[in-house]
Amino acid sequence: MTKVITYGTYDLLHQGHINLLRRAKALGDYLIVGVTNDNFDLERGKLNVRNNVLERVEAVRATGLADMIIIEDYVGQKIDDIQKYDVDIFAIGSDWEGKFDYLNEFCKVVYLPRTEGISSTMLRESQQKIVHIGIVGAGRIAKRFIPESTYVNGVKVTAIYDPCSTHAIELAAHNKGIQVYGSYSDMLNEVDAVYVASPHLSHYPLAKEAISRGKHVLIETPMTLDGNEATELFAMAEQNHVIAMEANKTAHCPAFRHLIVLIKSGLIGDVVDIEASLSKLLSDKTLREFDTQQAGGSMYELASYPLLPIIKLLGCNYTDARFYSKMENGVDVFTRGIMLYDNAVCSFKLGLGVKTEGNLVISGTKGYAYVPAPWWKTDYFELRYEDQNLNKKYFYKWDEAGLRHEIQEFISCIYNHRYSTSRLRRKESIAMARLMEQFAHRINFIEIHNH
Ligand code: CTP
Repeated sequence: MTKVITYGTYDLLHQGHINLLRRAKALGDYLIVGVTNDNFDLERGKLNVRNNVLERVEAVRATGLADMIIIEDYVGQKIDDIQKYDVDIFAIGSDWEGKFDYLNEFCKVVYLPRTEGISSTMLRESQQKIVHIGIVGAGRIAKRFIPESTYVNGVKVTAIYDPCSTHAIELAAHNKGIQVYGSYSDMLNEVDAVYVASPHLSHYPLAKEAISRGKHVLIETPMTLDGNEATELFAMAEQNHVIAMEANKTAHCPAFRHLIVLIKSGLIGDVVDIEASLSKLLSDKTLREFDTQQAGGSMYELASYPLLPIIKLLGCNYTDARFYSKMENGVDVFTRGIMLYDNAVCSFKLGLGVKTEGNLVISGTKGYAYVPAPWWKTDYFELRYEDQNLNKKYFYKWDEAGLRHEIQEFISCIYNHRYSTSRLRRKESIAMARLMEQFAHRINFIEIHNH
């Protein structure tokens, strides 16, 4: 018996897939089809797969061509499968020509002709209305957002507005297809959604205007510095049938999400303490980050990140929050925050003028999670126990600027009319905004004085 194996994603199963499976089957007597699982696709940068792995397996099964279907989970699995199932021929479409020659050591490799004119990518694009995004604020983050958006299907950055037009013109000059607008209102006429990447204090009015004009909004973190403003924006968005989402990249990062579900599944027992730190030492004191008029300071600039694991793991109902800050010209160049819950205590350290270790430690009754700096863009963490034999290391890939996952979730919420994402619930964004507000009002605030 000649055994043939082939692999694919098989999203939105189409004629090209069926032809390929038929050709592969014709090479032997028994066909094994490997279907990639969802996480493996994510790792490979396929962010836009429509059908989940079970649907894709069912679609392959329905062709009646596969004698056996397996799930492809990890890099290197092909060699394991070929040996495990005693495979004679590995077959794949000609778009992969040469890429699998290394398998010749284990079986015969055959590249089969690909069907022209059809692909899952084409189908996804034809079934989907492209969301046109306008960016407001042509700063550093906007510059990163544009290339990151190209990894996500169904979205196109087409417009930019910045009160300082030279910044917008410069960004557009480096990115084809982006039109610069002289007014925010004009830009809103032309787009479906807005990415609010302007200085903190402008988030609320700009997002509000966009929502009132029926546009979806992705708002850079911190979304607002006031709990009522955040509440109002979310309520307005739902009334206007548009999505409002806070752009906290860490919340969408695969490693962070996995860390949260592992801990919520009890792997380190009950969480009793969380310590999270983040510092970005800036020497140029003329920057926006040090300007009181532009809501400068460590808390506004950095707190959204350490607050994320705290609020995701322990919830929004803390019983007390206190701040200890070192101030310089009216802004906190360092803040230590302590948050109390009924069953846990958390602390975070933030610095623009003080350097701290930037790691995250989550302590539980059975063990602890250790995420080394920079934990907010992590590709690695460990779960550690008293019995070190139980320790486990988890590795992931951090994708360049790391914004593609939040963009993908934003687009997915738009398509699926989901007003709140489980990755960062509306109430969680509101809780963070309330803490910013408490800080602004200097409630439970103690200043650390200079030497
Ligand atoms: N295939 C083919 N002809 C096509 C499309 C795919 O022969 N028109 C083959 C691929 O070469 C591969 C298998 O089908 O051997 C599964 O490919 P997959 O990546 O799932 O399909 P694509 O349509 O190429 O998906 P995408 O557009 O997401 O890359």
